[in-house]
Amino acid sequence: MLWNRSYETGVEEIDKQNLDLLSRLEAMTGPDTDMARFEQLENFEKAAMEYFEREQAMHYDCRYSDADIHRYAHAGYLKHLRRIGCDYVDRGETLAHEMFFRKNAVESLKKHILNQDMSFAEFYKNAVDVEIETCDHTPAR
Ligand SMILES: [Fe+2]
Repeated sequence: MLWNRSYETGVEEIDKQNLDLLSRLEAMTGPDTDMARFEQLENFEKAAMEYFEREQAMHYDCRYSDADIHRYAHAGYLKHLRRIGCDYVDRGETLAHEMFFRKNAVESLKKHILNQDMSFAEFYKNAVDVEIETCDHTPAR
């Protein structure tokens, strides 16, 4: 399993999203057809985009000081996925390339969680502790 407790930020919504993304990447082996593989890539990208947008809304709600930097990190991740995904489709499916996509997508996401998402979670918990009025989400404890 790709997910483990070290990836828990303590912010329930973000943890659920990250768990789902890692689970999707983990499940990305098995389809027998190119179309099924392509759909998996597309679905993963759509889910990541949707989750990142929700997360960014949370950042702005809480007036997170690094919201813009974090948004750029999300955009960079999606761009990276798109580039690898396009290569994957253009060159035709190979097991080596599929493994390369998954490895990159997983490693980059883990790095993002451990750095940017953890930093936001720390800010978020402190913001809620001092009851910043603009932060209307409730953290998981
Ligand atoms: Fe993030």
